[in-house]
Amino acid sequence: MSIVPEYNQNEFTMYPILEREVLAPSTYLYVLKATDLSRACQPGQFVIVRLRKGGERIPLTIADFDRERGTITLVVKVIGKTTAEMATFERGSFLLDCVGPLGQPTEVLPLNHVVLVGGGLGVAPLFPILRGFHEAGSCLTTILGFRSKKDAFWEGKFTRFSDRLLLMTEDGSSGEKGTTVDGLRDLVDKSPIDRVITIGPLAMMQAIAEVTRPWKITTIASINPIMVDGIGMCGSCRVRMGEQVLFACVDGPDMDAHQVDFEELKIRQCRFQVEEREAYRRYQEDCGLRQKGMLSS
Ligand code: FES
Repeated sequence: MSIVPEYNQNEFTMYPILEREVLAPSTYLYVLKATDLSRACQPGQFVIVRLRKGGERIPLTIADFDRERGTITLVVKVIGKTTAEMATFERGSFLLDCVGPLGQPTEVLPLNHVVLVGGGLGVAPLFPILRGFHEAGSCLTTILGFRSKKDAFWEGKFTRFSDRLLLMTEDGSSGEKGTTVDGLRDLVDKSPIDRVITIGPLAMMQAIAEVTRPWKITTIASINPIMVDGIGMCGSCRVRMGEQVLFACVDGPDMDAHQVDFEELKIRQCRFQVEEREAYRRYQEDCGLRQKGMLSS
């Protein structure tokens, strides 16, 4: 609905960072002042952020919003140059722009039993969806998965709105040992499930879809491929769904997980890997030089 300047400094739109928190290793939470975005956004939608003029555009699914306070929350993991750069942004600094809300909201409706499955960073954008279904009166089981206890975050926040919560860690250092897929497999034949919603790595969402397929449980995956414009014009985020081709930015991010061609998506997701690695390597090199005072910042 809106693309709104929160604060205009010189000619640019700026979004102040009110809070910054380290949630887990390489994982950062940002609370941005973004009044109109917070009023307009719905669970499941995303924004595209740019740190500075000429910078890369990064799509981030909204992890929380507070309409009264006029804020949105983003959670970012350092995986390359731009996210590493964002990690250096402290409380009190500004993001150049934050465009959105983009994409279709998650369909939230009262259902008897909804299972929400989040893996790693995918846990964060699952939160507003959980709260939405809770407010709609659905019974909710949440399965959160992390590699290890040190990577886990927001268990308490999810417990508040979940009727049942299952924490899985791959090394067994917290909750139950195993993956979200193991957690769902244990659950799927024990009680009827009306819908599964999953956000996380592609391989995890694909495996979740295979658990629910024989049971014919409606399964929604939030697909976040490489995006450029975020408005359906560039074709970067295309997703094959059976005979159809859809665009995650305008038709999604939520898609029928039983129809998504995950194999093609995984290949497309790697198409700039070499360039991304090189850009990150150069950025780290520059940072090293900067720390030694050999380059201006
Ligand atoms: Fe360009 Fe979706 S990001 S079409």
